[in-house]
Formats: sequence, structure tokens, C-alpha cells
Amino acid sequence: MPSTSSYTVGLCALLQLGTALPAPWGSSKWPHHGNGKGDQSGINVQVGPRPYYLVDNMDDGDLKDQLEACSEKPISTSHFSISHRGAPLMFPEHTKQGYIAAARMGAGIIECDVSFTSDRELVCRHSNCDLHYTTNILAKPELAAKCTSPFVPYNPETGEEASAECCTSDITLAEFKSLCGEMEATTYNALNTSEYMGRIGSTPDWRTNMYAYSCADTVSLKEYISLVDSMGLDFTAEAKEPEVPMPFQGDYTQNDFVQQIVDTFTGANIPASRVWLQSFLPRDIYYWLENDPDFGAQAIYLDERGDTSTKAYEKAVASLPRLAAKGVKIVAPDLWQLVAADNATGKIIPSTYATTARDVGLDIITWSFERSGPLESGGGSYYTGINHLINNDGDEYTVIDVIAREIGVIGIFADWPATITYYANCFGL
Ligand SMILES: *[C@@H]1O[C@H](CO)[C@@H](O)[C@H](O)[C@H]1NC(C)=O
Ligand SMILES: *[C@@H]1O[C@H](CO)[C@@H](O)[C@H](O)[C@H]1NC(C)=O
Repeated sequence: MPSTSSYTVGLCALLQLGTALPAPWGSSKWPHHGNGKGDQSGINVQVGPRPYYLVDNMDDGDLKDQLEACSEKPISTSHFSISHRGAPLMFPEHTKQGYIAAARMGAGIIECDVSFTSDRELVCRHSNCDLHYTTNILAKPELAAKCTSPFVPYNPETGEEASAECCTSDITLAEFKSLCGEMEATTYNALNTSEYMGRIGSTPDWRTNMYAYSCADTVSLKEYISLVDSMGLDFTAEAKEPEVPMPFQGDYTQNDFVQQIVDTFTGANIPASRVWLQSFLPRDIYYWLENDPDFGAQAIYLDERGDTSTKAYEKAVASLPRLAAKGVKIVAPDLWQLVAADNATGKIIPSTYATTARDVGLDIITWSFERSGPLESGGGSYYTGINHLINNDGDEYTVIDVIAREIGVIGIFADWPATITYYANCFGL
């Protein structure tokens, strides 16, 4: 178990330096060893067997040969490899353990989706109101009682599904910190809360609950910054669209929220050049461009406008020149929007979204690989438009290659960063 043992070595080194605890959120850098070069993190990056499995699984061709030829190349951290919510293919999302796993797999940038608590502290959660399906809150009666909507079991008579709604804004930071992260799952016919959660319930069989049995630590934005900084890595933080009415508590506005994210980074002495803020709301990007221009200059506009229909997609493409003219520098559509099927040749090619964005000078990031499970039967919604060309797990690298080298995106989010890290190291990205 090379990765476990080198982590232990790392902890020992920190302990020997006289740190009382293994600096869980400390500011000391991780020991420099392994393949790190120059000012890289120095983390002894391990990609594990999965990228090799994917390459073996590919259809024969030049790309497979090129990726195979990289099999013994030393691997180091790459900013092209962006951790999406930590490493949620296997680790509970947005937990300390998931972030460390992502760092071990060579992600150069780690993501925190930002939401706020009832005492207006910022925490890492994918959504304002997902605690009932990403943490153990329902197993804690005193906190479950604070949920926006309490747990209601499945009703076998009416067929009404089990439900609950628990928001970060229902509880304080201290209460949030007492929660453990769990694999994202809900069981719609659950009769009690333990059936509702992932461990007994509906975690897909291609993920695992292996790392959800001991408490996976939930994380505040400040703790995330401290942890990621201690590993010498960089940041991407998304202002999650609040699901509670704004202004929250009467006077906490959307601008207060997105400004507080910036202030938390600057308060921790993190320069804007190391932070890629994100939002699905153009207004947030424009706010940062105007009020925090250093942060705005590399803020990412998350674009899912095209997801609803062909017409919406065409409208989104047509709006790209206008977005660029208004100062947006980076767009991040979901990955299917960047690719298209060329049925005459059976090849996957850059989409009109991709070519238009590049033509108007926008940089592109995309999300999220390793979220779709097995790809034998077309890959599901992330592979919309090319489903008929996807029939094995190795096809993932074919799509990554179009996006990385034909389109020239600047980074790719993945739920298992090793897959992107391997590719990025192979092609010097
Ligand atoms: C929930 O239901 C399952 C299945 O009926 C049962 O095994 C388990 O003990 C129940 N848990 C609680 C906390 O009641
Ligand atoms: C390509 O073929 C697929 C599957 O037959 C079809 O669904 C799709 O509409 C075709 N695309 C184009 C652009 O013709």
C-alpha cells in the first residue's frame, strides 16, 4: 500500500517537526519528497491502478499507444487535474479525507463548493440544502430537529417517497462541524433514517462506502484553505446558489455572500492568482469583476444553459461573444456541450460551443469526468450527443483527448483526479 505508507511517513515527519497534532489544518507545508519539482507541492503523487485499467480497456489506436508509452513515467501534481468535490467516486464529497485523496492523486487544484451556515460562516458543501443526503445529520436527533423539513418515511400505501430537507443555513458552524460526510445517496423507499442514507441505502455499486464508516470530516472554507495551502496546492471555490430566500435573515445579501468568499481567501493571505472562483450566476462573475478584479480576472462562469434543449444550446453558443466582451475570461460548460458526433467518420469532434468559445478568446474548463459510472452502455447524460459512440470504459480517454488537445481546455474536473493526472502527465499538461 504505497500511498498509505507514504502518507504515514508524511505524518511522522510533521510530528517529528514538533507539531502537536498532525497539522490537520496547519499551515506547514507537506514534506517535499517524491516527484515534486521546483515549486510544485512535492506530494508523492500516486495514480493507482485505475488509469492503467482505462488505458487497457481502450480501443486500439494511436491514443492508446501514446498513453501506454507513458506507463512508467514519473507522475507529479498537475493544475490541469482539478478535484471535483474531493474524490467522490470513493470518498464522501467535500471532506478532509476526500481532499487529501485528491491531492495524493495529483490534483493541482482542489474544489470547495461554498455555502453558509445560520451564523453566517462559510462551509464546503455541494449544495445549500444537501445535508440530508451527504451527511449523517438525520442520525443526530437534536440536529435533525432543526432541518427545514424533517424526515418523512416512505409511505407504502400511497407510494409517496421518503423525504427530508436539511440546509447548511439551518445550523451553526459548530453544529455543521459535528457532522460526518457520507456518500451522496438517498433511498426513496426508506422506512427509517438509516435506510435513507447511503451506507445501507442506495450508494451505486460502482462507488463504495468503504471510506464512510469512520467519520469523514466536514470542512469549513477556512479549514479547506488551510489544508489545501498546507499541501502547496491551489483553490477553486464555487458560490453555490442559495436555496433559501436572499437576503438571508433579512440583511445578508448575495453580494455579501460572494464578497465573504473573497474576504476569506484574502484573510488567509492567499493571492487571487491561486484562486479560481466559480458561479452559475453571471451576476456573481460581474460582481467580482467590478469589486474584486484580481479574483474576477480568473473567475469561472459555469454554463449549463444549453442543457435544456437544442434551442437553448444554440442560444448559449450565440451569447459567448457577448460574455467575452463583458469581461468573462473562463467558461465551464458540462463536458457533453464541448463535443459532438461526426457520424460520417464515427469520430468525436469539438462542438460549436467549443470552437466558438475559443474563437472569441475564452478559456475553457469542463466538468465532470468519473461521475458517470461504467460506460459500456453509452455513458448517460454527461455523454449526451455522443452516447452512440461510447461503449467501453476506455472511451473516457478518447473524450478527454478531444477536450484536452483538440479543444485546448485549461483544466478538467474529475471525481477521481488520478484519471486526469495520468493523462496530463503523459502529454505534459
Ligand atoms: C431501519 O430499518 C431496517 C430495515 O427494516 C432495520 O434493520 C434497522 O434496524 C432500522 N433502523 C432503525 C434505526 O430503526
Ligand atoms: C448521429 O447518429 C446518432 C445515432 O444514430 C443520432 O442519434 C444522431 O442524431 C446523429 N447525429 C447527427 C448530427 O446526424
